[in-house]
Amino acid sequence: MRIIRAKDYKDMSEKAASIIWAQMLLKKNSVLGLATGGTVLGIYEILCEKYMEGELDFSSVKTLNLDEYVGLEGRHPQSYRYYMDKNLFEKVNILKNNTFLPNGLAEDLKRECKDYDETIRQLGPIDLQLLGLGRNGHIGFNEPDDHFEDNTHVRRLNETTIKDNSRFFEMGEEVPKSAITMGIKPIMEAKAVLLAVSGAEKAKALKAVLEGPVTPSVPGSILGKHENLIVVADLDALMHVE
Ligand code: F6R
Repeated sequence: MRIIRAKDYKDMSEKAASIIWAQMLLKKNSVLGLATGGTVLGIYEILCEKYMEGELDFSSVKTLNLDEYVGLEGRHPQSYRYYMDKNLFEKVNILKNNTFLPNGLAEDLKRECKDYDETIRQLGPIDLQLLGLGRNGHIGFNEPDDHFEDNTHVRRLNETTIKDNSRFFEMGEEVPKSAITMGIKPIMEAKAVLLAVSGAEKAKALKAVLEGPVTPSVPGSILGKHENLIVVADLDALMHVE
């Protein structure tokens, strides 16, 4: 495990973006595992800037996102498809057909989970998996539980997660209660994992990830077993770590 200490959110975003940038320079047809949420927004902003400056080429890149809300269609402003389109895909030269997220509107969700695993199997292993970290230690929407779930599955979100996610929704708008999420297996099989963490509210979860023990009650703690984990975290997030 390598821990890269960043001063603040901006510095964390720059450092994490430079790792993705390097990955894309090293392998033009990289398969990137991507996350959504507040933490990674700054990273995507920088990648878009680098693209505009002619430094990055997404034309052969393929992407697999971690998760999607059940019940939201891709044009819904809070769907993760929409987030990815607006914050990255529509701003760079990636081919839309090379971008994959689970379909939250699938009629047969079990089938959708199987199909997404098949897509991951065909494209994988993921070269670099970008992750954010939930306050409760979740990665993707692998929420605290009594076991780790290997494959793509539908997950009812914990109250803390629903509360945290509600900040992105309009007042009175219903926050989805479940999501389709990639399981732990493809994350652990990724050639490298880049965990981006910022802010004091993540400090307890980050300490548990970095110091163990490995337990499904803190899903991110499994990353301690990954052979090529890179953690980029700012000082607030690292406040409980020696
Ligand atoms: C989103 C995802 C989640 C987020 C996590 C942190 O695709 O997989 O695990 O990374 O909830 O979210 P933020 O960055 O908004 O605190």
